[in-house]
Amino acid sequence: MKTPRAFYNPLAIGAPAPFREPPVKLERMIHFVPPQIEKMRAKVPDLISKVDVVLGNLEDAIPADSKVDARRGFIQMAKDNDFQSTGLWTRVNCLNSPWLLDDLLEIVLEVGDKLDVIMLPKVEGPWDIHYLDQLLAQLEAKAGIAKPIQIHAILETAEGVKNVADIAAASPRMHGMSLGPADLAASRGMKTTRVGGGHPDYVVLADEAEGTQRAAYQQDLWHYTVAKMVDACLSYGIKPFYGPFGDFSDPAACEAQFRNAFLMGCHGAWSLHPTQIDIAKRVFSPDPNEVQFAKKILDAMPNGTGAVMIDGKMQDDATWKQAKVIVDLAVQVAAKDMELAEVYGL
Ligand code: GLV
Ligand code: MG
Repeated sequence: MKTPRAFYNPLAIGAPAPFREPPVKLERMIHFVPPQIEKMRAKVPDLISKVDVVLGNLEDAIPADSKVDARRGFIQMAKDNDFQSTGLWTRVNCLNSPWLLDDLLEIVLEVGDKLDVIMLPKVEGPWDIHYLDQLLAQLEAKAGIAKPIQIHAILETAEGVKNVADIAAASPRMHGMSLGPADLAASRGMKTTRVGGGHPDYVVLADEAEGTQRAAYQQDLWHYTVAKMVDACLSYGIKPFYGPFGDFSDPAACEAQFRNAFLMGCHGAWSLHPTQIDIAKRVFSPDPNEVQFAKKILDAMPNGTGAVMIDGKMQDDATWKQAKVIVDLAVQVAAKDMELAEVYGL
């Protein structure tokens, strides 16, 4: 473990110092684009105004014979567009793949100054972050990049889940992490064939009662992992996210999965299909009624201490803090979305 002072030193001479306070950004949906497809790249200018983060995907779902085209397509897409306040991320190939080194060398040297975050898949422990951290510092120095590139880990192996807190603590470059339920299911030997979401056989049966059929209550397969990830991230001041939901034909289930993640503390989720952009926007922007109630709490306790009753419900310092989380998020959303600003009264 580094000493506290050394923790924030740049890892290469000429590299920018890591953020002490990461930029505050609204990241309700991380929208995946396959950059090797020209038709998809052509949609990026429109996407920039619709999503919080545009991510060029180089890893899974990109065929092996298109990896180089995807990397070059991403560089092109980064050069061709002004992303303004919308985040520009890439998901690079994993550390043991034949593509990762060139992904980093080419992307950071050519468009590293436009890149906010690198998403690193299949992170197993802090050693994976240390490797990328050092290499990025060398490349940033070589390219003369002034703003540090952040790292976002995908939590998608059994070992990664075991080491999640150490991953969160590995570097000041850590932006956050996403649950990767598809790879995680495979890594754990789960008996499923889905990308996220529930499973009809993962149930608890109600007790037997005479003359009635026993009810089966479906449980959330991801509850344990999301909770563990949220605690690890928040204890180190980084951001947790739900990842992909693969059944595009079931928007209701996608919304339910995203909402569970939102309520548990996640900041956003991945959108793999245009229909999931609006789902994520709806879910990860706080509910207007909750915002109104939270504002009442803040107004009723201007210095955040004491106890008051609002609509029959007891409020104290702890509910004030919960209300502040909701109002702070609403303010962030309102700054980006005029319609919601009006609905929130902000
Ligand atoms: C995402 O990468 C996943 O494996 O779910
Ligand atoms: Mg994966």
